[in-house]
Amino acid sequence: MFDVVIIGAGPGGYVCAIRAAQLGLTVACIDRRDSLGGTCLNVGCIPSKALLTASHHYEAASHDLGAFGIKVGKVGLDLAAMQAHKDKVVGDNTKGVAFLFKKHKITTVTGGATIIAPGRVRVTGAGGDTEFEARHVVIATGSDTVSLPGLEIDEKTILSSTGALALGKVPKSLAVIGAGVIGLELGTVWRRLGAEVTVIEYLDRILPPMDGEVAKQAQRLLTRQGLKFKLGTKVTGAEKGKGGVTLTLEPAAGGEAATISADAVLVAVGRRPFTDGLGLDALGVTLTARGFVQVDDGFRTNIPGLYAIGDVIGGAMLAHKAEDEGVALAEILAGEHGHVNYGAIPSVVYTWPEIAAVGMTEEQVKEKGIAYRVGKFPFTANGRARSMNETEGFVKILSAEADDRILGAHIVGPAAGDLIAELVLAMEFGASAEDVARTCHAHPALGEAVKEAALAANLRPIHI
Ligand code: NAI
Repeated sequence: MFDVVIIGAGPGGYVCAIRAAQLGLTVACIDRRDSLGGTCLNVGCIPSKALLTASHHYEAASHDLGAFGIKVGKVGLDLAAMQAHKDKVVGDNTKGVAFLFKKHKITTVTGGATIIAPGRVRVTGAGGDTEFEARHVVIATGSDTVSLPGLEIDEKTILSSTGALALGKVPKSLAVIGAGVIGLELGTVWRRLGAEVTVIEYLDRILPPMDGEVAKQAQRLLTRQGLKFKLGTKVTGAEKGKGGVTLTLEPAAGGEAATISADAVLVAVGRRPFTDGLGLDALGVTLTARGFVQVDDGFRTNIPGLYAIGDVIGGAMLAHKAEDEGVALAEILAGEHGHVNYGAIPSVVYTWPEIAAVGMTEEQVKEKGIAYRVGKFPFTANGRARSMNETEGFVKILSAEADDRILGAHIVGPAAGDLIAELVLAMEFGASAEDVARTCHAHPALGEAVKEAALAANLRPIHI
């Protein structure tokens, strides 16, 4: 009998396992894959960042180094070597989790899990069935890709993110359905490597949950880089031919249909909670209308001893949100007081420039009727950004008119994904914009743009 059996070894599950073991609980963690780390490490965040970084270097070597006085000969692409880099990064990360499991004496089980009764899990693996008993069972099975009617993913010409990470050849043309995080990140990878990329989005804007002004600026910059956008457009049909796929497109608001042909199509229209094979129906586990496992604020399902965390419970489908839930749940199970502050969870799009956000968007602040101030600072006025030739974008901080408390922060710019950390911390501590503005920032550094935006929220920026 284990104290905790965790189903799923993604960022939610594996972090929960490690934290529970640290707190003295006996833990088993089950996963279908024999490589730990879930979608994030195997076919998500980590491999996509490996390709984003590699393709960024390729683009810089091809176009950007001359401005720094660096002469390069003809730049060539060795896609197989680039993919090998990605595979090595994935291998190092997943092996790292296996090492941590060993260190913390966590039992690793490979196979598909079914919860046959409260506290009892059957695992079907290569060697047959095994049953495990536990005081607590945690569902951390994550999410899976979804497609559209008529678009069956074959991972050859009609791709999910998994197939789009593994292409052995750069497609001449790539149609991306969905201008969300996956569409923009992977669309950027293949555009940099030479594909003609068209992004088709149902809404009349890109990156729907992001601040509107930030999304507009991001679209402008991505268009300048060569991505094409067809907004307000729905895909109503697809036909596979010899050389690729022809999609039928219709204006979302109604109107005449058109077609677009591409060598490959990436479907990036969101993800669904993954609960296949768990036996939740038979157990009587309550799901939400959209199929997420319903939990209370202590991650408890309606079945005693059964908990759920991560993508499978909904909210932001982000690895770090799942990790924080894993830690909080492990602490709750150990009798402590785990907690996640959902108001201060950053979100980052790893295009270049990067796009990062925390807290409320300007639209949300308005909707709530909160009186607010906006402090904005462009990277064109930041010395370090100028020295890097990285002057695109800005930092935007929203603070409450009443007490200057930071309500949200949004950055389009170089290393935005790292810069946002300061503002997440500020929000976690309930800081005011003035607190950030009065904090000494190293010079010259990109972070000074954060300080200046905080100063601007109080109408006294120094450098604009
Ligand atoms: P998403 O929810 O970010 O974006 C999907 C987009 O597809 C939306 O803009 C939506 O309006 C559009 N769409 C939906 N149906 C459509 C249709 N029929 N025709 C045209 N457009 C349509 O989903 P995405 O990009 O697939 O990512 C899945 C999840 O993975 C997200 O929750 C995301 O946060 C997460 N993720 C996070 C990353 C990061 O943090 N850097 C990287 C990759 C994924």
